[in-house]
Parts: sequence; structure tokens; C-alpha cells
Amino acid sequence: MISRNNRIILSCLCLILIAASACTSKDNSKTNKKDDMLDQKVDSLLALMTLEEKVGQMNLYNGFWEVTGPMPEEGNAKTKYEHLRKGWVGGMLSVRGYDNVMKMQQIAVEETRLGIPLIIGFDVIHGYKTLSPIPLAESASWDLEAIENSARIAAVEASAAGINWTFAPMVDISRDPRWGRVMEGAGEDPYLGSKIAVARVKGFQGDDLSQPNTIAATAKHFAGYGFAEAGREYNTVDISVSKLHNMVLPPFKAAAEAGARSFMNSFNDLNGDPVSGSEYLQRDILKGKWNFNGFVVSDWASINEIIYWGRAKDKREAAKIAATAGSDMDMEGYVYIKELVNLVKEGIVDERIIDEAAGRILRVKFELGLFDDPYKYCNKENEKKLIGQESHHEAVLDMAKKSVVLLKNDNKLLPLKKEGQKIALIGHLANDKNSPLGSWRIASDDNTAVSILEGMNAYKGNELIYKKGVDLFLGETAFTKEVKINTTDRTGMVAAVNAAKDADVVVMVLGEHGFQSGEARSRTQLDLPGLQQELLEAVYKVNKNIVLVLQNGRPLALEWAAEHIPSILVGWHLGTQTGNAIAQVLYGDYNPSGKLPMTFPRNVGQIPIYYNHKNTGRATNREGNVFWSHYIDQENSPLYPFGHGLSYTNFKYSDLTMSNSSYAINDEIDISVTVSNIGAYNGKEVVQLYLRDLVGSLVRPVKELKGFELVSLKKGATKTIEFKLTSKELGFYNNSGEYIIEPGDFEVFVGGSSDTTLKASFTLK
Ligand code: BGC
Repeated sequence: MISRNNRIILSCLCLILIAASACTSKDNSKTNKKDDMLDQKVDSLLALMTLEEKVGQMNLYNGFWEVTGPMPEEGNAKTKYEHLRKGWVGGMLSVRGYDNVMKMQQIAVEETRLGIPLIIGFDVIHGYKTLSPIPLAESASWDLEAIENSARIAAVEASAAGINWTFAPMVDISRDPRWGRVMEGAGEDPYLGSKIAVARVKGFQGDDLSQPNTIAATAKHFAGYGFAEAGREYNTVDISVSKLHNMVLPPFKAAAEAGARSFMNSFNDLNGDPVSGSEYLQRDILKGKWNFNGFVVSDWASINEIIYWGRAKDKREAAKIAATAGSDMDMEGYVYIKELVNLVKEGIVDERIIDEAAGRILRVKFELGLFDDPYKYCNKENEKKLIGQESHHEAVLDMAKKSVVLLKNDNKLLPLKKEGQKIALIGHLANDKNSPLGSWRIASDDNTAVSILEGMNAYKGNELIYKKGVDLFLGETAFTKEVKINTTDRTGMVAAVNAAKDADVVVMVLGEHGFQSGEARSRTQLDLPGLQQELLEAVYKVNKNIVLVLQNGRPLALEWAAEHIPSILVGWHLGTQTGNAIAQVLYGDYNPSGKLPMTFPRNVGQIPIYYNHKNTGRATNREGNVFWSHYIDQENSPLYPFGHGLSYTNFKYSDLTMSNSSYAINDEIDISVTVSNIGAYNGKEVVQLYLRDLVGSLVRPVKELKGFELVSLKKGATKTIEFKLTSKELGFYNNSGEYIIEPGDFEVFVGGSSDTTLKASFTLK
């Protein structure tokens, strides 16, 4: 067979080059040697490839079974198979499972001229089959080890299903909960977002990408997508250079430094440039300044969309712009495969651009070990054994409990007593096994979450009465469809109110269906959808002992509830083990320690609202007149700030001390604080450190998170926590995108939330 012969030639060529490199690069460090060898393998392979085959590597097709975007006119199975056989496809997405992946991989390896294996991508966003909490929820844990472990489990399951590349982590910072995709990210803060980005990349990729249970990560969406105007999906983004560098880029940079093997660009424009065609982002910053040697994949047909943005007149121009700008792979766009070969032949696109792009993709395939064994991710035994194993359920349960945030607990209704209580459990979502799985969970089976009703039923000491109240949604729900919300049918309302009347405690599970957040799920209202608010108020009239358990994929604006309901838990969409996690928190078998990774506004009119805002020139009402920065109908403060979250115990902060009062720019600044558990339970606290640069050459935020530590404290225990600030934390990016550190006065704040006032000061000389 021609292909086998050629593959033998290819292997020999690679070996010769490896041997050559070993002789010539004696002085290089181990990593450099490895890099050189890889470069040479890639080069030797490129030398064997035709232009068409190289462009083929830049072509990513969706599979035939699942769809995560609008279907393009060109996309039919016949064309895809034809292209696969010609070696014109570099990878497939949303192909999963031993049989399906084998089928595709065999075509690539056995039937094409050079037998180059495919990279197999999938949206492994918060688990594969055994689901963790949605990423925003996980972020509320501030527990980097647990978050890394959650990504690890996702990688183990996904790789056992033949996948070797995930389109995660999404590291988009966003201050706008109207945007449904905040559920996929780590919230509003670039420091926390960067730490979580690293944890997730490490979790997916492990220490060695060539192991069969690690997968290549994708930092997405590069960049600015989280700042879509008015929180409307796919909308325009117009932000300053300093905002881009200080707010948007840090988690991407962190992901690149952690070794993320690919980046995905986004659907938005950035200051007039559709980002799939942005040279500034891809060439100057990512591949230039950051020296990124992985590859950039477009988002679903986003190169094609450069035409709809009005930046290119046709596919040919879109292909030229995107390839020149450094987008290496075209996802389900049919632009590269149609246009690039001709563009090169006509001398409009330099072939070196194609070599570079194809080379980057091949490099990752080498790193994944696909050239050693193209079928290494296809193992029927593993697929059966590893997916859904018991230890994964234990881990996602642990992650789910860590993600819960206790917003308020005024009358100490929580934790619930375990015996002798009559508890009314109310809400459609309390008895739902599908919604808690959250959005973005294509490979998991519907209705496989433990419902909250099931979780609470496991506690037998109380009398538990369940009433739905009202339907939240009508009919079937699906990832690709709008959820139909019930706004008229009140059947069941009276029964729920009656059940609540003589209950000791009412647990109400209200909020959003899992498919009300995620891609293309922007909202203009952040209230409880449908008739849920009416239900809540009706129940409140007969029984005020309400614990509200929210189900949400984003911050909600619940002013009425915050004022009237004594206890509120943010229960997010916690994945497969939702019901067990919520029940264990409600009953005090787990003491909540989550902290909000994103501000909860009072109402939609306050958005964007975030803790690291600027002071303005008129921040306070100095003279009692109207001339200050405020609303006439609402407070400026949020409902719950970033970093907020209570525990069943209480923590006291004291003795905030600094080693000095003045430092040189390169000094390490030592800060310590004492934290005591003064309540009645053992607990965990996220100790947060914020910094304020009082005077800068650009206006600086009133506070910026610069450190945190998750501390476990037994009741009565006290601990001293040490922080270090270095030049990494002290500076900021100016409007030329340069990182600068400026001398001057700074304030340091430490506490259990961004609204902490415990403060110390220092000067940087
Ligand atoms: C999303 C990406 C996703 C891709 C592939 C797009 O619609 O924006 O985040 O990775 O589809 O499924």
C-alpha cells in the first residue's frame, strides 16, 4: 500500500533528523533539545506534504452526530468523507466514543497518502459523562486543587472515549451576567481567573501530554468575548487597550504559560477587528510577545463570519485575512479548504504561513503521541472501565459541595435540624434530574443528575413533603433549543402554599433551567424566570421560614428575596451529584465555604457592576446635593459583592501587619493576618488580599485581588496567614499594553470578601 510505504519513509526521515539533532545540540537544555527534535520532526513531515495536504491540516470538521453551531450550507457527510480520504482534514470535533473515533481515525491513517492521524476535539467543559459543577460554580470554590482534579477527571473520561483535545478552559473574564456564557468561565476577576485557568490546563494536560489519559487544552475565546456589548451574545466589543491587557488577557497569558496547546478565537470583533482576523491578538501578542508555540483554532465558522461583520467581501478575502493574522485552523467554516490553495498559488498568501499553521497543528499531534500510535485514545476496555467510575462520582460530589455559596443565613435556619421537623420542599427544579447537569454537557446522558428531592430523601429523620408549585418550563429542553418558560399555568400553586403553611421550614428550589445559561442564552432580566417569584411570595405570606436554594448559571438579581428570605444558598448547576451536594450542605454535613466569583447586582440597570471599578471623580455625596456618581432610584452597591460567601461558623480577622512601611520596587512585600474561627462549627475560609494603588499614571481600580488562601480552621482555632506581593502583583498595563510598576502609596485590604475594610498601607519607592 502506498500510504504504508510512505509512512515508513516518513518514520525513517524523522529518525535521521532526530539523530542529527542529538549530535548538534549538545549544549541545549533538555527542554530545548526536545523542542528542537519536535521542530525537526514537524519540518521533515512538512517537506513530504503537498500544499493541499498542508491546508488540509488547517481544516477542522464537525462530526455527523452532534452540532454545536449553525449548520453551514457546505457541510454534508459526502464532502467530509471525500476530504477525509484525500487527507484534507486535520481534525474532527464532536466525534466521540471508541467506534466513531476509530472509524474516522482509520480513514485518516489507513486511507490517506501520508496517514497523518486526526486530532479529535470535543467540548469537555465540566466533565465528560460524570459531570462536575458548571465552571462558574467550580470557581466559587476558590479551591485550585479541586478544580484541577475536576479537569483531570474530565480528561480521563474524555480520553477513554477517543478524544484527545478539549475546547476548554473558557477563560473569558466577564462583568455582565446578562451574557449566558458566564457559566463557562471563572467570573469577573483576572487574578482569580488566571489561577483557575492554570489549574484547568494542568488538569486536562497533566504532566505528559503523550499519556493516553491526558488531552490538549484550549484557552478560549481569544479575546474580549466576555465584554460583548449589552451582554448580548455574539455582539461587538469595544474596549481600551489597558482594559484588554489588565482585564481580558491575563488568564490567556497564564494559560499560555501553563502550556495550553491551543487557543480558540471568538465570534466578536475587538475595536472593529473581527478577532479571527486580528493580527494584533494572534501574531503580535500570542505568537509574538508570549511566544506561544501551540496552534489557534477558529470558533465555529468564525472565519466565515468575518464576511458578515463586513470586514471581508467573500470567503477568499476572509481566508486571506484570517490565515495572515495567525488563525491556524478553520472550524467547520469551509473557508480555508476552499480558498487557501489558490491564494498561495496566486502568490496572495505566502506558503510560509501555511507551513507555520500546519506545522503548529502537527506539532501538537506529535506531542499527543498520535504519530507513535494513532489509536492510543481508542481503547474499548478503558471506555467501559473508566467512564462513570465510582471515584469520579465521589470527586464531583466533593467539587459540588465546595462550589455552594451561602449568601445569607439570618435566623440560622441552616443547617437544618436532622430530626423531628416537617419540611416542605417546593419548586419544579427540586424534582428535576436534567437541569442540574447544566449547559454544555453534550456527552452526558439526560436526566442523570441526583435531584435535590432525591438528595434530601436520603435524610430520613424528618417528614419531607414535596410540592412542585408551578412549572418552570414546558415540554422538552435541549442544548440547541430555547427553553419554553411557563408564564400562565398556576396549577399547583395552592397545593404548595398549603404544604408550606404548617411546615417547620420550607426549602424552595428556584432559579434557571440549566439550558437558560450557556451559549446564546443572553437575558435582559435576571429575576426568577416565569411564575417563580409569584410562588415565592405566595409561600412567604404563609411561612417566613424559607431557605431559598438557587439553581443558576449566572449571578441573579434578587432584591426581594435578599430582603425577605432569611437563608439563601447559591446552588448553581452542580452536575451529576447536585442533589447529594445540596442536601449535605442543607443538613450541615458539609459547611459551605464558597465565595462569589462574580458580583450579584441588585437589578439589571446596575450592570456592568464589579468590585474592581474605578473611583470616579465624584464617588461620595459630599454636600448633600445630587451632583455625585449615583442612581436616583437605586443604591450603587451590589446585592452581594465579589468574594462574598458565608459559613455556618464565623471568622474574625485581626492583626493585619506588613514587614515594613516602605519598599523598593523589586522587594518582596510580606503581609500577615490572623484569622480565627469564632463560631460553633469547623469551617473553611477563603482569605482574600486586595490591593489599591492610590495614584497612578492611569486611573487604578479601588481594589484588585492579588492573593488568596483557602484555610481550614477548627472551631476555636486561630491561624496566621502570610502573603507575599512581588513585582508581578504591583504593576499594571498602560494604554500601550506595556506592564509598568509605579512608585507611590498603596493600600492592602484583607478579609473574607471584596468589601472588607481591614487595611494597611505602604509606599513603593
Ligand atoms: C462555541 C465554542 C465551542 C465550539 C465547538 C462554538 O459555538 O463558541 O466555545 O468550542 O462551538 O463546539
